[in-house]
Amino acid sequence: PTLMELQDPVVNWFRANKRKLPWREQVSAYHVWVSEIMLQQTRVEAVKRYYERFLEALPEIKDLAEAPEDTILKLWEGLGYYNRVRNMQQAAIQIQEEFGGYFPEDYDKIRELKGIGSYTAGAIASFAFGIPEPAVDGNVLRVLTRYLGSREDIMKAKNKTRIEEALREVIPKEAASDFNQGLIEIGAIVCVPNGAPLCESCPIAENCVAYRENLTEEIPVKKKA
Ligand code: ADE
Repeated sequence: PTLMELQDPVVNWFRANKRKLPWREQVSAYHVWVSEIMLQQTRVEAVKRYYERFLEALPEIKDLAEAPEDTILKLWEGLGYYNRVRNMQQAAIQIQEEFGGYFPEDYDKIRELKGIGSYTAGAIASFAFGIPEPAVDGNVLRVLTRYLGSREDIMKAKNKTRIEEALREVIPKEAASDFNQGLIEIGAIVCVPNGAPLCESCPIAENCVAYRENLTEEIPVKKKA
């Protein structure tokens, strides 16, 4: 299968099947950032309430930059991994000082902000600005390795980088956001981890190697070190 063949089915499926989620209501770089950082270690259902409360308390980047530490920790209480929100405040201060309070519309500049890795930078750049950079998280790694029938260890940085590079070539310029979000959403609700991927309702099953060869239990391979 070629990755080009993903473009239309992923974009069309996402437009027809996306879940209604709070961070899809009003899309800005700040909104994408807050939601994606929360979603890194926490389930969608649990994030919803935190997300709404956080943005009510701190509606703009400036508010996050200027908030007392106990305020931001309180808003994060229960989500865990508190360095995530401390890093966000550092990045908000950087955005105030270096970019006049606005997220830079540039992948490399976004990537340099504190606590923002390649996934989060790609999500912000593509969802908020339409920049055709990949946003590869665990969902997307699962979808792509199954689709390609790849038994490469997804815990290895080199293999993730390879998938990012391959995807970068096929992200549709006019639909970067829906394409990237579509891959994430397929991983979240169709191409789910174990037991029961819903291949019968998957828009890319037709060309999927793992589906054809019954390998969804074997792939992705996660070996680590
Ligand atoms: N998991 C991680 N990011 C997500 C997003 N933007 N929408 C749904 N699930 C996600």
